[in-house]
Amino acid sequence: MRSRTSWNDRGPVGLVPDLIVSSQKEPHMASHPLGIAVIGAGMAGKAHAHAYREAGSVYASTIPPVRLVSICDLNAQLAEEAAARFGYERHDVDWRAIVDDPDIHVVSIVVANFLHREIVEALLAAGKHVLCEKPLSDTIEDAEAMAEAARSASSIARIGLTYRRAPGIAFVRELVQSGRLGDVLHFSGRYWADYGAHTDAPMSWRYRGPNGSGALGDIGSHLSYVAEFICGDMVSVSGAQLSTAITERPKPLGAIVGHTRGGASDEMVPVENDDYAGFTAEFAQGSGTLEVSRVAVAHPSTLFFEVFGTKGAARWDQRSFAEAEVAFHDDPEDVIGYRTVRLGPAHPYLANGLPMDSPGVGHGQNEPFVYQARAFLEEVAGIPEEASLPRNASFEEGLRNMRLLDAVVQSHEAGGAAVEVPAL
Ligand SMILES: NC(=O)c1ccc[n+]([C@@H]2O[C@H](COP(=O)([O-])OP(=O)(O)OC[C@H]3O[C@@H](n4cnc5c(N)ncnc54)[C@H](O)[C@@H]3O)[C@@H](O)[C@H]2O)c1
Repeated sequence: MRSRTSWNDRGPVGLVPDLIVSSQKEPHMASHPLGIAVIGAGMAGKAHAHAYREAGSVYASTIPPVRLVSICDLNAQLAEEAAARFGYERHDVDWRAIVDDPDIHVVSIVVANFLHREIVEALLAAGKHVLCEKPLSDTIEDAEAMAEAARSASSIARIGLTYRRAPGIAFVRELVQSGRLGDVLHFSGRYWADYGAHTDAPMSWRYRGPNGSGALGDIGSHLSYVAEFICGDMVSVSGAQLSTAITERPKPLGAIVGHTRGGASDEMVPVENDDYAGFTAEFAQGSGTLEVSRVAVAHPSTLFFEVFGTKGAARWDQRSFAEAEVAFHDDPEDVIGYRTVRLGPAHPYLANGLPMDSPGVGHGQNEPFVYQARAFLEEVAGIPEEASLPRNASFEEGLRNMRLLDAVVQSHEAGGAAVEVPAL
């Protein structure tokens, strides 16, 4: 585990050897700028585009210079606007232009989950370093194939499970791993969203695909990963319930980006996957419940959890991103209870991770994308792990997360029976 000071003491400033050797994959020649492209200029694509701009402006100057080459989107107007807005040299409408460009080394894939596999496989075969959004795909078969492609690739493949970079979540994990909360007894986690709560929200890729690729795949991938990030691996899941609350949606009249509403026709089409999923988890140590919904009115994006240990408890709520709450059993009885901790330079990521990193300065959900991009560029540049931010999750971990979600679907199909979660 990283000590508190390791977050603040990030190795020698300005030390960039000409050729930095990475462990297994081919290193990038640090004397050449790293050419960057982002495929997908929708809701999360813009966060990636911005993150690569900022990655070199946080922490010490250890990563090689980057060249922001292209933003690609099937929607040419969106791609062009995003390229201009974030300072990329050009835009593309066909991702194959990124595959074929020898000046592009690092690519984020930020399109619908069912498109991930084809693009990942082509990019890895071309030797590009790939940061693919979560979940790996919308089917286990595709995820298995992608993990295999990553195993045999000469370049690096990582998955963007961004919440591990939320300072509050990383802090709670530290509290657990350092033993300050004692042994984990119980975890309770929810990720509630309301993007599907309106019956006039038009059909989009989020509502298509097998059961389990709806709310469970979209936001359950985040919540289940966070639960394991904090409590350790789940052994089994049970009592799963998946349901589709709004069974048909209007066809869109134009392009849909993120969770936008409006622009819907009168023609209705069936929703294919889950609006809601809930299940019980058995961890190697402790148990808990997880619940996700995309029809939770008045919750635009609320990931929140509470973890209880033998020595104390902690909780974090995305609505107060820059805070965490902590309670310790050995506090004097008359003042025992949760205290609010304002997350600042004493906590993960934040010292030198913000332009103004003074205590009390606000931060939110965009910063973790910067830390994620930074960690990826550090790895591509071959900077040793101990002098870098923690690495991004591997495709193996992405596959494990998909298997966990698949176990939830199996439990649902078996009337709530306990289903083992395959180990990594
Ligand atoms: N890490 C996070 O916090 C986070 C948040 C949101 C979404 N995501 C993930 O990011 C991915 C994209 O989600 P989103 O909400 O940004 O989706 P989105 O629908 O807003 O954007 C997707 C974009 O992809 C474009 N596109 C479609 N087909 C394409 C193709 N063949 N080539 C190039 N572009 C194409 C669309 O025009 C659209 O602009 C998903 O995997 C999602 O799970 C992650």
